[in-house]
Amino acid sequence: MEPEALSLGILPPSLRVEVADPRVLSDTQTAAYDLKTRAATDSVAFLLDPSYCFSSRSSLKLPISLVQWALALWGGDSIAHLALEERPRQFFFAPAALLFNSDFHANASVLGSLPQSGDIIIFDEYIHASCHDGMKMSRAKDALIPFKHNSLSSFKECILRALQLNPGIKAGKATVFIVVEGLYSMDGDVAPLKEIVELMKSLIPPESRHLIVEEAHSSGIYGQAGRGLVSLNGLENEVHTRVHTFGKALGSAGAVVLTDAVIRLYLINYARSFIYTTSLPLFNVVAIGCSFDMLELVGDELSARLVHLCRFFRNTLSSNLKLIPAKIMTLTKTGKENLWSPIFPILVCGSLDLEACLQAKGYDAKAIPYPIVPRGAERIRVCIHAANTEDELLRFITELVSWAAAYQQKDGKKERNIVL
Ligand SMILES: Cc1ncc(COP(=O)(O)O)c(C=O)c1O
Repeated sequence: MEPEALSLGILPPSLRVEVADPRVLSDTQTAAYDLKTRAATDSVAFLLDPSYCFSSRSSLKLPISLVQWALALWGGDSIAHLALEERPRQFFFAPAALLFNSDFHANASVLGSLPQSGDIIIFDEYIHASCHDGMKMSRAKDALIPFKHNSLSSFKECILRALQLNPGIKAGKATVFIVVEGLYSMDGDVAPLKEIVELMKSLIPPESRHLIVEEAHSSGIYGQAGRGLVSLNGLENEVHTRVHTFGKALGSAGAVVLTDAVIRLYLINYARSFIYTTSLPLFNVVAIGCSFDMLELVGDELSARLVHLCRFFRNTLSSNLKLIPAKIMTLTKTGKENLWSPIFPILVCGSLDLEACLQAKGYDAKAIPYPIVPRGAERIRVCIHAANTEDELLRFITELVSWAAAYQQKDGKKERNIVL
């Protein structure tokens, strides 16, 4: 029988695949296929080729291939997995790509397996816990040099120290790995990537350097169609390895390491959190494909909208905070030059009090109090989404400012009592 394409409705292209044999579907009313109504069913075509036949063996009647897979190395990677790997490779203009189950796995693997003994790892002090775990597992675990967050002078000092520690670096006998993030999630600030690359190139010979950029928070936001900070700066040829999560902006789970073909092969053979785990389930693979469809279709539109909302939020909140003392509430500087960051840390005294007040109004607010951050740096972190509306932001700003005004009054009374 000829393959039959189901009608597609408004679904993104990843779901637009052909049904190999409609009879396979009709005799198994699977939960996954029969999404809501007959109408919905008609507009959904699942990824079906004969090898993904739905099965009626499972009591839930889920297609076996959608619920269970295997280790990637032992056949767990289907045609769909390999196709998905090709998608980010092309999208991000990378020589090679390797899928991981999460960004945590990816960072831990890259940093846990690439650096060898004699190599040195220089990293921004604020990089994610997964990078720290990887570094601690690596053969270079005794040669870790942190630099002060986003500080170019500290970065330069660290490179000079590395060159002193191992003269083999200049001779091309050892590698300096450099690890930074694109957008940092706690402060909402952006790495000075161009300057980092320039310094690295001026001090370390090409055969001895390897720059890794963790784009967990910059994916989907910066660059054309959300290709990230490396792409925005046109640095694809200078950055050796990029890691993008499919969580966060892409709304799914999993991650991809973009690198060259040799390192990809090396990871397949040595990266423990790639080798010893079940590969991504197929429904996740389909979902990630949909996220890429969205980026390609509306990525630019969504990031333009996000920039608009970020500007609106900053300008409106700043002007509303003019009469509030900075020690009670301050909106810190985020982003970089013309780069807007959707993460806004708002420094407040009494972050737990504000958290309770916002939660009572139905906001999912989480304080970051002392001792997680130093005294005086307590904060509430606001993350704006492209789907927010100006009205929502205005309502939220009103709550923030009324809390700050009430706190100011309480604080004033306390101070008067102390003076008395
Ligand atoms: C900077 C950074 N890297 C990596 C991760 C982990 O991402 P994933 O959820 O894909 O494991 C996170 C998530 O908290 C993160 O903030």
